[in-house]
Amino acid sequence: MTTYLVTGGAGFIGSNFVRHVLEHTDAEVTVLDLLTYAGSRASLEGLPPDRVTLVEGDICDPALVEALVARHPVVVHFAAESHNDNSLHDPSPFLQTNLIGTYTLLEAVRRHGARYHHISTDEVYGDLELDDPQRFTETTPYNPSSPYSSTKAGSDLLVRAWVRSFGVLATISNCSNNYGPFQHVEKFIPRQITNVVDGVRPKLYGAGRNVRDWIHADDHSAAVLRILERGRIGETYLVGADGEKNNQEVIEAILTLMGRPADAYDHVSDRAGHDLRYAIDSTKLRTELGWAPRYRDFAAGLEQTVAWYRDNEAWWRPQKAATEARYAAAGQ
Ligand code: NAD
Ligand code: TYD
Repeated sequence: MTTYLVTGGAGFIGSNFVRHVLEHTDAEVTVLDLLTYAGSRASLEGLPPDRVTLVEGDICDPALVEALVARHPVVVHFAAESHNDNSLHDPSPFLQTNLIGTYTLLEAVRRHGARYHHISTDEVYGDLELDDPQRFTETTPYNPSSPYSSTKAGSDLLVRAWVRSFGVLATISNCSNNYGPFQHVEKFIPRQITNVVDGVRPKLYGAGRNVRDWIHADDHSAAVLRILERGRIGETYLVGADGEKNNQEVIEAILTLMGRPADAYDHVSDRAGHDLRYAIDSTKLRTELGWAPRYRDFAAGLEQTVAWYRDNEAWWRPQKAATEARYAAAGQ
């Protein structure tokens, strides 16, 4: 029986992945998470204590990482500073966690011969024009725009170098924008849902034409598990569910689902360097590893997500006021 070491398992996608592993395998999971503003014990509440252990600590701590990797044959690395807007205000924790943290893990993985899977983003490829018929593939050149995406790109390149130079048993996945339960209220979809709950008008950056390629976090989790089980060492797999929508469409869908007029939102100042469009071609993952998304209907997935935020106010409420205060200070 496998025991997974899941970094960042108390965050959004990591905690969805832990649930997915519990449901679909008989593995045990150790979560290594610093419980920053973005991570919380509450995201792992109710999970069986005989199968899930939370270690509160930093992926940049070499002694702790060494001790944990020594007794885990498989490491799945989700932990990161993950929000573009935060990276524009203070890049420093992004360099530390995303680069030094990944380096620290890779060194331990190298010493112990562990299997390592690296979670990354499609944002490493930069952005596309709205009318570009091309989508990102595994061979698209890296061209990141923000401090967040550039540190994720750097971390991917470290993994590739550790595979080539040291024979580390690694795979990489670059996924598009995730949605679903347990996502922090700073992110686009939960921010707007919880604004509507609070009677506040949703906030659209700029003209709202920017396109994101949405995938449900559970489909991302299934892809990661499939790569762990069948992926080829040294390979990169793009993960996406053909979910392109512009931000205005998403806000209108949320408002309509929540019984408000579709135009009851505000335009606010745009993000600096705002990437225009992301779009993933996940043919390699689908054809080589037989993965396919289960959530093919974005409207249905969004409805389920709205219901989750309505039903789980106790989970997000503690973060809401401070998050909105940060946005207000930035005029957003
Ligand atoms: P998140 O911000 O919700 O969670 C990050 C987790 O990492 C938190 O629990 C936090 O406490 C933990 N963490 C941060 N710094 C740490 C450190 N130094 N040591 C240990 N733990 C630390 O992020 P998320 O949205 O769940 O993203 C998870 C991963 O998926 C990231 O690597 C991100 O780049 C990638 N990704 C995210 C998306 C998306 O749409 N959210 C899309 C593609 C890829
Ligand atoms: P976000 O969830 O921050 O993800 P990412 O920057 O990784 O794509 O934002 C998704 C899109 O929504 C992005 O184009 C920025 C936009 N956005 C808004 O229009 N309003 C908001 O309040 C937020 C947080 C984001």
